[in-house]
Amino acid sequence: MRGRSKPWAVPYLQAHEELVYQNLPENDEFLRQSPLYLEIGMGKGDFIIGLSQKQPGHYLGLERDLSILATAAKKIEGLDVDNVRLIGGDFDDLFEALGKYRFDKIYLNFSDPWPKKRHAKRRLTYHERLAKIASLLKEGGQIVFKTDNPLLYAFTLEEVPLANLKIVYNTDHYDFDETHDAMSEYEARFRGLGQNIHRVIIEK
Ligand SMILES: C[S@@+](CC[C@H](N)C(=O)[O-])C[C@H]1O[C@@H](n2cnc3c(N)ncnc32)[C@H](O)[C@@H]1O
Repeated sequence: MRGRSKPWAVPYLQAHEELVYQNLPENDEFLRQSPLYLEIGMGKGDFIIGLSQKQPGHYLGLERDLSILATAAKKIEGLDVDNVRLIGGDFDDLFEALGKYRFDKIYLNFSDPWPKKRHAKRRLTYHERLAKIASLLKEGGQIVFKTDNPLLYAFTLEEVPLANLKIVYNTDHYDFDETHDAMSEYEARFRGLGQNIHRVIIEK
């Protein structure tokens, strides 16, 4: 997802400290709550907003494109949602600060596929990054991954054992689970085009 650079984005994010972390604090009360969920590459927020309204818990959404993050923040500001917080930045840069906290589930929705082989290390599910993501899970926690992209799906299935993790569920034809799942912008778009959705659930 490429966001058009929005001049109002950074000032808007800075003006909404109650929703958007300017940096991740050492001992934050919100992030000490349980259950705690993280979405990496949250885009414009439809998934995290939708899930936060049907599954009790506290939610942190992470997005590196600040214009996209600001669009999500604006959406949340207009709703009666108090169990979601946002942070702007790249996962790799925020990893150390995130390490102070442990999550029950980490969601990766329609991550950038980086189709060129020489860019494989940039994929969120590249095994070294997947191991870093899994290190943020509580005991028994899960990474829940969805994609429309068959190559990224196949790549992810191969990377999981390389990261010393296990696949507990996978399908290349995921029927949306209305009760326990929420739909991101990309999922809605791909389903609208009649495309298959692939899903993998990963545990330590
Ligand atoms: C293809 S979009 C999908 C957005 C959303 N998850 C959805 O399903 O509609 C991928 C998003 O992940 C973000 N992203 C990709 N790599 C990231 C990283 N390493 N750290 C944070 N955000 C990332 C991109 O900026 C983009 O907004």
